Amino acid sequence: MMNSNTNICAIEQIGAQVLRRIAMPVERVDDPSVTDVIAAMQVTLASTEGVGLAAPQIGESLRIMIVASRSTPRYPKAPTMDPTVMVNPEFNALSNEIAKDWEGCLSIPGIRALVPRFRKISVRYLNQQGVSQTLILEDFVARVFQHEYDHLDGLVYLDRVETNRDIVSEQEFQKLITESSVA
Ligand code: NI
Repeated sequence: MMNSNTNICAIEQIGAQVLRRIAMPVERVDDPSVTDVIAAMQVTLASTEGVGLAAPQIGESLRIMIVASRSTPRYPKAPTMDPTVMVNPEFNALSNEIAKDWEGCLSIPGIRALVPRFRKISVRYLNQQGVSQTLILEDFVARVFQHEYDHLDGLVYLDRVETNRDIVSEQEFQKLITESSVA
């Protein structure tokens, strides 16, 4: 049954056990409990300035994530795309090329860091209708995918930072991007 008044969920914060668990694969995308989780993720993400969300972040240990790159005050240079729900996602790097760029996380407020990620990946997932999809993702969107995918394996982006010197406060990050002349 369609849940017509899905509520915005609290975002789990670093330290919560659910963020450190390996999430379970979804068996049936059309199971009402699964569609409820997806709806809750959609309204919760839409209420934030985030560009992605993983189910463990709303306390659901399931392999579901949303990639929703858009320009927001948190990510002013992000390309715009339709929010994409991805169930049981998988990916492969298409080359060994690694790029280091800034990330933040709704579960780790107040902090940003430079994170190395594969620059170009091939991804596979089930959409909300349970149909298998494949996409090639590059640069920022590939980064968002890999960030959200990590949440499904109990990892957060700070686990991938190469040195503590690559971690800055949100306030310092805002200074960096406004002072930067890089397009
Ligand atoms: Ni995150």
